Amino acid sequence: MKISSCKKLSLIVVLSLASTSMAWSQQTRLAWIKGVFRNPAKVGAIAPCSSYVADELTRYIMHEDRKPLRILEVGAGTGPITKEIIKKMNEDDHLDCIELDAVYCDQLEEKFGEHENVHIHCMSIIDFAPTEKYDVIVSTLPFNSLPPKLVQQVVDQYNEIIKPGGYITYIEYVVLGNVKRLVLSKEKKAAWDVKQQTLKEWFGRYGVERKIVWRNLPPSYVYYLKIDKVENEKEKSKTI
Ligand SMILES: C[S@@+](CC[C@H](N)C(=O)[O-])C[C@H]1O[C@@H](n2cnc3c(N)ncnc32)[C@H](O)[C@@H]1O
Repeated sequence: MKISSCKKLSLIVVLSLASTSMAWSQQTRLAWIKGVFRNPAKVGAIAPCSSYVADELTRYIMHEDRKPLRILEVGAGTGPITKEIIKKMNEDDHLDCIELDAVYCDQLEEKFGEHENVHIHCMSIIDFAPTEKYDVIVSTLPFNSLPPKLVQQVVDQYNEIIKPGGYITYIEYVVLGNVKRLVLSKEKKAAWDVKQQTLKEWFGRYGVERKIVWRNLPPSYVYYLKIDKVENEKEKSKTI
């Protein structure tokens, strides 16, 4: 049986409403759902991330005696991860938030705009050209629903703008990806596999840990990467 796009979208909205009804203000809830309607593939989620995912994704930003951190958040949405990052920031830390959707950006400005160390950039991560690299990148881009070429560009961009020894965390929904693959056409399956290969190689090279967070809708994997081989690889290619 084929489910029409309209029914699929209605289901997404009902699930979003149910899952966001407890934790979010009406304004945030509405903004989120409108975003799902505007661009389901780019939002790529039925609900904002839970505080449990937010806590795991921000593991590398800790209050302690440490040097100031440059932090990049990608795909900030309506701000659940931003809120957690700000909670864990020291006063000398710097946070850049990238979000593609203009309405979500307005929400982010409204919620976090007055923090002088927080800067909202309303654009695609692909077009972002920072002048300094980052110690930590926290990404909630929906890799499962983005095209393979874009995923490769994002991975290249992250590798380029992270400092040697810097940390990257990102999420992926448990099971959903594999279920989605089952219903794809042969051509789309091939593209899907290319994308998974890109992510597998990236994690294979830099991965530290993958953890499941059940208390999220849907449950998610959080991936932890330490990009400590970028400079080594460059050095190696210089000496060959
Ligand atoms: C899965 S949602 C996560 C939102 C929020 N961080 C949360 O945890 O609920 C992904 C977000 O990435 C944004 N996004 C998608 N493609 C993007 C791109 N190329 N550059 C920046 N943001 C993008 C979407 O608009 C959406 O807000």
